Amino acid sequence: MKINILIAGILLSTTALFAQVTKPIEMPYVEYPIEAGDHDEIVQQYCLTCHSFGYMLNQGKKSRPYWTGTVAKMVNEFKAPIPKEDQQIIINYFVKHYGYESTTGH
Ligand code: HEC
Repeated sequence: MKINILIAGILLSTTALFAQVTKPIEMPYVEYPIEAGDHDEIVQQYCLTCHSFGYMLNQGKKSRPYWTGTVAKMVNEFKAPIPKEDQQIIINYFVKHYGYESTTGH
C-alpha cells in the first residue's frame, strides 16, 4: 500500500515537471524588413529562431552596451547557441544598422 502511494507521488510530481517544461512561451511576431549587409545572414541564422526581427527593434535605436548586453542575455539566459565570433558580428551589425556608438546609456 505504502509503495503504491509512493509511485503515485512520483508520477504526479513528474507530470507536474513536464507540464512546466512544455508550457509554450508566447512571443509577439512583428513583421519587419531586415537591413541587408554586414553579415545580416548571421543575424537571421541566430536571432530569428525564437522571435521576430520587429520584436527585437520595437524600442528604437540602441547603444553598443545595450546590444552587447542583449546578445549576452540571449546566449547566457535563453541558451541561444551562438559562437563567440558570431556574437561580435551580430553586435556590430545591430550597432551599425539599429543603434549608435556609445560607451554609456541604453
Ligand atoms: C533561444 C531563444 C532566443 C534566441 C535564439 C534569441 N532570443 Fe532574443 N529573446 C528571447 C526571449 C525569451 C526574449 C523575451 C524575454 C525577455 O525579454 O527577457 C527575448 C527578447 C529579446 C529582445 C527584447 C529586449 C529584451 O532584452 O528582452 C531583444 C532586443 C532580443 N531578444 C534580441 C536578440 C538577438 C539580437 C538575438 C541574436 C543574437 C536573439 N535575441 C536571439 C529568446 C531568444
